[in-house]
Amino acid sequence: MFNKIAVIGAGNVGATTAQRLAEAELAKTLVLVDVVEGVPQGKALDLCQSGPVYGYDTNVIGSNTYDEVAGAELVVITAGIARKPGMSRDDLLETNAKIMRGVCAEIKRVAPNTIVIVVSNPLDVMCHVALEATGFPKNRVIGMAGVLDTSRFRTFIAEAANVSVQDVQAFVLGGHGDSMVPLVRYSNIAGIPLNHFLSEETIQTLVDRARNGGAEIVKHLKTGSAFYAPSASVVDMVESIVKDKKRILPCAAYLQGEYGVQNTYVGVPCKLGKSGLEAIVELPLTTEEREALNVSISDVAENVEKLKSLA
Ligand code: APR
Repeated sequence: MFNKIAVIGAGNVGATTAQRLAEAELAKTLVLVDVVEGVPQGKALDLCQSGPVYGYDTNVIGSNTYDEVAGAELVVITAGIARKPGMSRDDLLETNAKIMRGVCAEIKRVAPNTIVIVVSNPLDVMCHVALEATGFPKNRVIGMAGVLDTSRFRTFIAEAANVSVQDVQAFVLGGHGDSMVPLVRYSNIAGIPLNHFLSEETIQTLVDRARNGGAEIVKHLKTGSAFYAPSASVVDMVESIVKDKKRILPCAAYLQGEYGVQNTYVGVPCKLGKSGLEAIVELPLTTEEREALNVSISDVAENVEKLKSLA
């Protein structure tokens, strides 16, 4: 168990992440920070009062400042605005970059040794902003996207094949956008290739649905974006770090030569343990997969450039 984990942003994703972290007792103290007065305090109190019923002792503290974040071993950043119908993740770029810079400056000041998990969108670009603004090494700035994208793909595969989600493994590479690359070749049901259960046509439909999984939810909700699966995905990553499990999870990592990519955040298979990102697993790709990954990478690079021109 860690001594302290902080969650920045007490909105849908942040508050649900805090709830899941408190229930899992992954830290003695959990700090929830938001700019809106009263919201983190109220939600923290509410979470503390769930402890006796649910059976956890996590001490949850809400704050509008960063004093309580001091010394945190892990910080999850969910601060920012979420998508509305018709918006792409990229539409959030400028606003969320400003918020991210401000949040990271505070984190650097009070918790210079922390590991940071970025959740705010557009994810891969926000990771760049966080890496730059904190000045932390790349093993301590990781983005949450792949676990979520993979979870969506697994859900759709299980539903189409009429099997338990537990037995479905799936893989998604690339940026957290429309050009993400679900890797069918590395996906399976109980170790058996997908095409044993599903036609190529169905598999392609599921790939497309996974790519648009976030937008499908935004369209239903109308006033915001997904938060149950995103928060569950964050906790999967946090647990692997806190318990030094060394799980291989798809995360946004800063590539410096891996997959032939230089200085760009992209979703790749990562080993997560006590030091944060401990290794990147490089897989051989077919020409088709490589081309799809290149499209996804150039989408991320384009947004990083766009942000530079706005700064
Ligand atoms: N510092 C701390 N909190 C902030 C700041 C800031 N500078 N600016 C905004 N916030 C808070 C808001 O007050 C709000 O409570 O961030 C919270 C965001 O919550 P929601 O609007 O509910 O958005 P949410 O669904 O949680 O999504 C947050 O995660 O998945 C991504 O795309 C999503 O970028 C979005 C982020």
